[in-house]
Amino acid sequence: MHSISVDRLPPGQFGLPVVGQTFAFLFDRDFAIKQYHRYGPIFKTRLLGEPTVFLIGPEAVEALLSSQMDCFSWRGGWPESFRILLGESLFLQDGEEHRHNRKLMMPAFHGAALAQYFETMVSVSRRYCDRWLRLGEFVWLEEMKQLTFDIASQLLVGADSGEEVAQLSRWFTELTNGLFALLPLSIPGTRFGRALAARDRLLQHLDRVVEQRQQQPTRDALSLLVQARDEAGNALSQEELTAQAMLLLFAGHETTTSMLTWLCLELGRHPQLWQRARSEQRELAERGPLELSQLSQMPYLDRLLMEVERLHPPVSGGFRRVVKPFEFGEYRVPEGWLALYSIIATHRLPDIYPDPERFDPDRFVERPQPYSLIGFGGGPRVCLGMAFAKLEMKIVASQLLREYDWEILPDQSLEAVAVPTRHPKDGLRVRFFRASA
Ligand code: HEM
Repeated sequence: MHSISVDRLPPGQFGLPVVGQTFAFLFDRDFAIKQYHRYGPIFKTRLLGEPTVFLIGPEAVEALLSSQMDCFSWRGGWPESFRILLGESLFLQDGEEHRHNRKLMMPAFHGAALAQYFETMVSVSRRYCDRWLRLGEFVWLEEMKQLTFDIASQLLVGADSGEEVAQLSRWFTELTNGLFALLPLSIPGTRFGRALAARDRLLQHLDRVVEQRQQQPTRDALSLLVQARDEAGNALSQEELTAQAMLLLFAGHETTTSMLTWLCLELGRHPQLWQRARSEQRELAERGPLELSQLSQMPYLDRLLMEVERLHPPVSGGFRRVVKPFEFGEYRVPEGWLALYSIIATHRLPDIYPDPERFDPDRFVERPQPYSLIGFGGGPRVCLGMAFAKLEMKIVASQLLREYDWEILPDQSLEAVAVPTRHPKDGLRVRFFRASA
């Protein structure tokens, strides 16, 4: 065994004993980008007592997500609270177990299955647009959360619209609040204690739903998972199906809520861009009502969504544990370290995105270079629900742009808050009305 020479460690500072640079990381939203400008795409620090390597920019991120992914563990990287609350699901699995399960789950999120989800997405979003007209004024983040949860719970686990969806949604809010608890202690009444109780109720509920689907499959994604078989004819176990269903519901709504809210906010701030997006939609509307085939004919909306993903990525980065020494350029990172790839800092590199704070969809007239737009992660473990989320966002956006108008109300903070997913501080209060023809 050879020892790791200290001078091959990446540049950077560990900061104070134990806490290291945890406070700067938590409270300075420009921490990663400042360190990048000082040290480059790979640097060391200490977070919550652990030596940590940060990776920023296409080359470093590609190494972590793809060419050297075997040096990293997902399960060992995410905080304890994630491991406890999201349990035995794809997000936290590694190696062969992950590859096997991902292959079984993939068909429920691509091709023919997606096409089947189209009608439900259209009808649920239409119902919410009617509701928003009746309300007139509301906080959009909260409303989007209900909309995306309604779609996710109907399509993923076949929940009936109504009380079941509302109950599931309340449990998920409790669960999500617990994910970011710094001290994940199981004490009843604390934030984490409530999250654990919500997790148990969700698992019990989903366990029953899995049993029902095993007896009688329906048209939801869970039914496809129940019926999926590997080459040897094996299915996912009951326990695994329940855990995966919970992950899908969790992953499938907060993130989409965040991007849709920022899209509406940026359109409200940029009337000229809004006009271009509306013209594109109205030209399509002249040819008939929204249908699946139209969704591939919206280049401007595609660019708008890419720019929202760049400037407001719902997830700011991803954690890993180094399980085999990892080499990048002249540096070597030892086994046992924590690794963090920064989505938000990669999206703000001025060499790739000049004037990075400016909202400008036309940056994406050309396709982005690989691993420079990574709001959904990348490589073999890119977000499983990416196509599902993009389908849903385009359907909601098309309907909004064709028929409605909104104004951002004064006296509110639109400052970005990073957790649980990036959102405007006061949630975006708007006045909503029908657009003139
Ligand atoms: C705008 C919406 C979404 C965003 C921005 C987003 C973002 C992400 C990101 C960044 C990752 C990778 C994390 C990492 O590398 O550590 C990821 C993974 C994942 N996402 Fe999404 N996501 C979205 C929607 C969805 C939806 C709708 C679903 C399911 C219905 C979903 C299911 C998953 C799953 C299962 C994984 C883990 C994949 C694996 O490890 O193999 N996501 N997502």
